[in-house]
Amino acid sequence: MAYLALYRAWRPQRFGEVVGQESTVTALQNALKEGKLTHAYLFTGPRGTGKTSIAKIVAKAVNCENLAAGEPCNECSSCSDINNGNFMDVIEIDAASNRSVDEMRDLREKVRVLPAQGKEKVYIIDEVHMLTTEAFNALLKTLEEPPDKVRFILATTEAHKIPATIRSRCQIYNFRRLTAAEIINRLKQVAANDEVEIEEDALLLIARRANGGLRDALSMLDQIYSYKGKKVNKEDVLDVLGLVDDLFLAKLMEKVFAQDVAEVISMLGQTLNSGKEAQQLAKEASLYLRDLMLYSVMGEKADFSVITEESLPLIKQQTKVKPEIIFAALKIMMDTGDKLRFADGHKYLLEIAFLDIATLTASKTVDRKKTEAMSKQITETNELPKANKNEARDVLWSKILQEVKEQKIPTHALLCQGKLLGVKDDFLYIGFKKGYKFHKERMEEKANREIVEMVVKRLLNKDIQIQFIFLDEDQYNDIVAKKAIEYFGENIVEIKD
Ligand SMILES: Nc1ncnc2c1ncn2[C@@H]1O[C@H](COP(=O)(O)OP(=O)(O)O)[C@@H](O)[C@H]1O
Ligand SMILES: [Mg+2]
Ligand SMILES: [Zn+2]
Repeated sequence: MAYLALYRAWRPQRFGEVVGQESTVTALQNALKEGKLTHAYLFTGPRGTGKTSIAKIVAKAVNCENLAAGEPCNECSSCSDINNGNFMDVIEIDAASNRSVDEMRDLREKVRVLPAQGKEKVYIIDEVHMLTTEAFNALLKTLEEPPDKVRFILATTEAHKIPATIRSRCQIYNFRRLTAAEIINRLKQVAANDEVEIEEDALLLIARRANGGLRDALSMLDQIYSYKGKKVNKEDVLDVLGLVDDLFLAKLMEKVFAQDVAEVISMLGQTLNSGKEAQQLAKEASLYLRDLMLYSVMGEKADFSVITEESLPLIKQQTKVKPEIIFAALKIMMDTGDKLRFADGHKYLLEIAFLDIATLTASKTVDRKKTEAMSKQITETNELPKANKNEARDVLWSKILQEVKEQKIPTHALLCQGKLLGVKDDFLYIGFKKGYKFHKERMEEKANREIVEMVVKRLLNKDIQIQFIFLDEDQYNDIVAKKAIEYFGENIVEIKD
């Protein structure tokens, strides 16, 4: 037998099988028991929350030969024909592909024909918001003079697009997003039925990504089934769905907030190389930042989107970051996610975004006086212990990057890939690792070089020439590179990839 997608196999066939939507289910079931169903309903709510499923249950209930307690029997010929899609009097119309006025005029004619097979005709019009204005008007006429033995169930994900005239003719039920707990419960039921063992963490991941829709949750489970065996853990889910681990996000943001630029770039490189999409990463980072905001305000009780027990300890640390920085960071990440949709997935945009956030943090937390003092030290003495010298150099570098960025973002984007090696005599040395030759060459162009020179002059208060060095081993015979290594030592120059 052909494989039936999980979301189809698990379509609720009776009210008792519906997850959530309690008030809707109770109201409809009571109306059925008491014979008080009205002739037109409008179901609104997010996709995959049960609108079509419940519409079909209603269609079965009105035609069922053994209706009991408002539930269809699923056994009589009407019920089974409806379940198999062979029942002439239950008519599903997808408004997205039948949106014209002719279609609705046609409908107006057809509704007058008596039911052929069952007790009542039920029209289920899905995505009803897609109808044209004229089509809505034609539909309205039908709803205004309802023929006997005909019911309408309109469904839409976009309630605000339904004209008031239509709304006022319908009884409206709003479907809500299902909670993560409700989704997890159903997924457990499905997994148990298929004898698949799936970790709680893995279920939580799916439930959160489903964003309240059970159809999406079941489709994700389907996808995971087809790649993984009978045991599924969090790693598997991350893998199959291309998601990023929350612990990784927490560590990445820790480095960003600490302005550890080199580590940020390297962490990004690793995940992108391992096959994660830049856009996905931007999206997950946005969700993470949102969680961080929620955590600062509400603590552990908040309804998080990505963080779990595992990342909580790191999140706690990050609440030290000022709310306005977290908020600005969130905006940067969301913008970047948008841009990446059209930008051919380019990782530079993502790097720039994280570095922007790092710079933002620096500008709010680095004390200007301290920076200046350190810049002085780094230029004037070589006696400092190495650790101090490194720290001073990093601070000067983040300062340079920040000011260059204020001048010109594209220059900043190029310069970010470099590394401040040190200052010696009247030269400041900036190195580019293997693979960044392009960046080095662009930086050597007059327009870019001048910006850096100007910024450095202002920061160090003297005229300094900038030397850009390509730190490829093969280039060691480059006299400038050789010199730089002499001054600053191999370990600082870091020629490894
Ligand atoms: N409330 C729910 N209870 C049980 N299953 C649901 C529910 N909502 C959605 N599903 C699952 O998702 C599938 C699609 O749901 P559907 O009723 O077509 O959603 P909608 O019409 O709201 O987009 C169903 O076949 C079922 O597997
Ligand atoms: Mg539907
Ligand atoms: Zn029946």
